[in-house]
Amino acid sequence: MTKQAEYRIAVLSGDGIGVEVIAEAEKVLRAVGERFGCRFVTEPGLVGGAAMSATGEPLPAAALALCRASDAVLFGAVGDPRYDDPQAEKRPEQALLGLRKELGLFANLRPVQVHPALVDASPVRPEVVRGVDLVVVRELTGGIYFGEPRVEGSERAVDTMTYTRAEVERIAHLGFQIARGRRGKVTSVDKANILACSRLWRRTVEAVAREYPDVTLEHMLVDAAAMHLIRRPRDFDVLLTENQFGDILSDETSVLVGSMGMLPSASLGEGRFGLYEPIHGSAPDIAGQGIANPLAAILSAAMLLRHSLGREAEAQAVEDAVTAVLDAGHRTPDIAGPGQLTVTTSQMGDLVVQALIQ
Ligand code: IPM
Ligand code: MG
Repeated sequence: MTKQAEYRIAVLSGDGIGVEVIAEAEKVLRAVGERFGCRFVTEPGLVGGAAMSATGEPLPAAALALCRASDAVLFGAVGDPRYDDPQAEKRPEQALLGLRKELGLFANLRPVQVHPALVDASPVRPEVVRGVDLVVVRELTGGIYFGEPRVEGSERAVDTMTYTRAEVERIAHLGFQIARGRRGKVTSVDKANILACSRLWRRTVEAVAREYPDVTLEHMLVDAAAMHLIRRPRDFDVLLTENQFGDILSDETSVLVGSMGMLPSASLGEGRFGLYEPIHGSAPDIAGQGIANPLAAILSAAMLLRHSLGREAEAQAVEDAVTAVLDAGHRTPDIAGPGQLTVTTSQMGDLVVQALIQ
């Protein structure tokens, strides 16, 4: 008998609803293992506020070592009102920035697909959001989030933004490669009318584009992109952009799908290894109530299967199961229409498992 494939997954649930939604994603991975005959050895690690209360550090060395020893990381969310002092030197969010930097995860993929059953969940008109299918390709380890911040007394503060040509090149290549497997269009978003970094970005993306003559490239200024994403979102295929713009625009895309609770993400480096997380945060306001939507976390697990483990059939099966559950009308409160019955976080996880194994 051939040996069952076995994968090591580091599970960093973090804070707030991160814990609740990751429990459901783990449930789904176990079901994938049963159906497809593979094994996921999951090991928990502490990050964020949870790690700060236990160890004083948002990203303890043990959590980082665990990630390094794993095939992939399943990440929940970090952010904790107990550590929300903006003056504090240590904050839960540093865990995420630290992981991205230390693990070399320079590329963040955030696919945005409007599910046909959810066109009415968006505040944007159904005829605008129907059929939206885009992916934000966000540079993740450069730019202003990794600058040299300085606070000068109480009157002045400085953040710096830096990009190198090499940093732009590697993310641009990925953007074009992804576009090749899709509808063949890249919209590169920058602020080249103002920022030096954006001019370097635009020049570099143009040079890279010459290697992909089969892909159409357009440039768009970030302010215009913010508008067009809502006015004509179907025109976007691959939205390629730098760290901060990608952070902001990807939250905007959640409006198209109706909820932050629907959007997964993958953070990738050079190899297969990656970190997978829902784009939503720890949502302390609804934590512990069992009402969080676990679908973004479950869809992140599907991305993990696809990108880090090369298990496309399994990834597709999870995505199909989510579609089946939505088609059957099951909703957590964030995506429910007025008067519609809702299910809890763990019921939603169970429904996806049932759809997967039947
Ligand atoms: C995200 C989050 C993070 C970011 C924070 C928590 C550091 O907003 O993943 O989009 O800004 O990148
Ligand atoms: Mg963000």
